[in-house]
Amino acid sequence: MANKLNNLEDLFKHELKDLYSAETQILDALPKMVEKASNPDLKKAFEHHLEETKNQKQRLEEVCKKLEMDPKGETCKAMQGIIKEAQDMLKEDADPEVMDAALIAEAQRVEHYEIAGYGTVCTFAERLGYTDIKNKLAETLDEEKNADQKLSTVSKNVNAKAEASH
Ligand SMILES: [Fe+2]
Repeated sequence: MANKLNNLEDLFKHELKDLYSAETQILDALPKMVEKASNPDLKKAFEHHLEETKNQKQRLEEVCKKLEMDPKGETCKAMQGIIKEAQDMLKEDADPEVMDAALIAEAQRVEHYEIAGYGTVCTFAERLGYTDIKNKLAETLDEEKNADQKLSTVSKNVNAKAEASH
């Protein structure tokens, strides 16, 4: 049973743990997506985001250290679900071009979940007067938004190839 949430500060810390769990799960899942991607731009985008994700996890560790709290202890069930869906997709018998389009569809679900989560903790940090922490979390939020946009850009080529595949 989780601790009682008495105020915004408690909720803020709870959300940080949720994000830490999400990043940890993503770090585990991304290498399989890198491996499965055929389009070189998509592979590169995933590889780049894998490096970013390592940083993002570390950033959360730094934030939690400042707040004198343990980042561990929660399991993000939403991310478990999204990743399970992605793993099921990896097992589908799909043309490589179609698989690439599917990988983007799954990865953008991950990114949008993270954008929502980091948006929330940025707002909470600002409200609570944690300026440095807010700035750190906003760096991650920007990276997630950029990763999402990059996937949208790559998807134009990928979707055209998937459309032409037979
Ligand atoms: Fe992330």
